[in-house]
Amino acid sequence: MAAMPAQNDLEPTTPAFVIDGDVLDGFVHRFRTALETHWPHSILSYSFKTNSLPWLISYMREKDVWAEVVSDAEFDLALALGYTPDKIVYNGPVKGREHLRSALLEGSIINLDAKREVTWTAELARERPEEELAVGLRVNWDLEALRPGESTTGEEGSRFGFHIDNGDLGRAIAELTEAGVRVAGLHMHRNSSTQSIGVYEASCSVAAEIIRSRNLDLSWIDVGGGFFGSVEGSPTFDDYVSAIRRALEPVLDPDRTRLIVEPGGSLIAVPVEFHASVLDVKQIGEHTLVITDASRTDIDPLFRRRRGYAVRLEAEATDTLPRQIVAGFTCMEEDRITRLTDAPALTVGDRIVFSTVGAYTMSYQSSFIEFLPAVHVRQGGSLTEVRRRWGVMDHLQGNRWLREGRLTGAADQGTATP
Ligand SMILES: Cc1ncc(COP(=O)(O)O)c(C=O)c1O
Repeated sequence: MAAMPAQNDLEPTTPAFVIDGDVLDGFVHRFRTALETHWPHSILSYSFKTNSLPWLISYMREKDVWAEVVSDAEFDLALALGYTPDKIVYNGPVKGREHLRSALLEGSIINLDAKREVTWTAELARERPEEELAVGLRVNWDLEALRPGESTTGEEGSRFGFHIDNGDLGRAIAELTEAGVRVAGLHMHRNSSTQSIGVYEASCSVAAEIIRSRNLDLSWIDVGGGFFGSVEGSPTFDDYVSAIRRALEPVLDPDRTRLIVEPGGSLIAVPVEFHASVLDVKQIGEHTLVITDASRTDIDPLFRRRRGYAVRLEAEATDTLPRQIVAGFTCMEEDRITRLTDAPALTVGDRIVFSTVGAYTMSYQSSFIEFLPAVHVRQGGSLTEVRRRWGVMDHLQGNRWLREGRLTGAADQGTATP
C-alpha cells in the first residue's frame, strides 16, 4: 500500500499516528497538579503496557514520571530507555525470578502478584539477611460485590493478586514476615467499566480494612490506573485524588505513606490521532463503502470498540451522504472502522483523522497485511517523525535465518524466500 502524501507541514503522509505534544503535556501536568494538591508525597507512574512507544517512554522519563511495568520485557525496556531501577514500579503476574531478585536489591517498588514470587522473595531474604527487603502485595478483592455492574469481570471476579478472604493474602503476609521481609505496600488496581470515583472509594475501603485488621505500617498504597481522562469531562484527576485522600486518611498518614498511581489510558488516549486517506469508494446496493489506508488493526486492535470515533474530515466535496461505511485496508469483512452520518461524500485522497486512539492501540501493533504505521509528534507548530513506517526489513529484524544468510536476497530486494 503506497503512502498518501501530506497536504501541509502539520499533516503527515498517511497512514500515521500523530501525538499532540501540547495536549499530552496538559494531561501529565493535570495529574501531577492533582497529586501535588492532595497527596504531595506521591508517585506518578506511567503504565507501559498502554503504549510503549519508545518516544513516549523517554518523554515520561524526562517529565520525571516513573515507569510502571508488568513483565521482565517491560522492565528491560525501561532500563534500555534510561530509567534507573529506583524509578520503576514492578507489578504483574509473571515476573521472572532473576528480574525480581535484582529489582528487590536495586530499589524498585515491587508489588507481588503470585505465590512463586512470595517464595522467591522469602528465599532471597534468607540468603541475604543483611538486606532490608520490602514488598507490596496485589490484593484480589471483589469489586462486583461493592460496586455491582461496574467491574469488567462480573461474578467471576479478578484473576490477579492475593484474595483477602480465602487465606491467600494472610499466607503471603505470614511467609514474607517469617523470612524477614517487610510488607510495605498494597496494590489495589482494578479496571472498571465506569471509571467512577466510587470504584476508588471501594478499593480504598478494602485497603483501609486490611491496614486496620492486620495492623500494617505501609510505605506505599498503589491505587493503580483505570482513571477517566478527558480534557473537560468529569471526574477530573483532582476529583479522583481528593476522594482517595478522604478515604485513606483515617487509616494512614499521607506524609509517610506514598500514594502511587499508574495511569495509562487517561494520559495517552486523547492526545493521539490516526491520519488516514481514502483509497477507494464503492457503491454496493444502497451502501457506500469508503476504503482507507487505516484499519481496525491500527486503532481498534481487539475489535471491541462499539461506539464510533470522533473524526475530522478533510473532504473535497461539500454535498453530504446520509450514511457512509468507513472500512480498512485489510481483507477482513469486519474491518469496518466506523459509520458516518450526514457527512461530506468522501472521495479518493480525502483525509480522515480519528481522535483519541493512543491507548491500547500501538501496544497491540499488528503485522497483519501491512507493517507498522509511522508515528509523528506535533508540537510547537511542527511535526516530527518519531517512528518511520515499517518496511519488510523491520519485520525481518531479529530473524535468525536472515542473520545466518538463509533468507535468499532478503537484504537486497526486500523480499524473503525461506
Ligand atoms: C496493574 C495495572 N496498572 C495500570 C493499568 C493502566 O490502566 P489504564 O490504562 O486504564 O489507566 C493497568 C491496565 O490494565 C493495569 O493492569
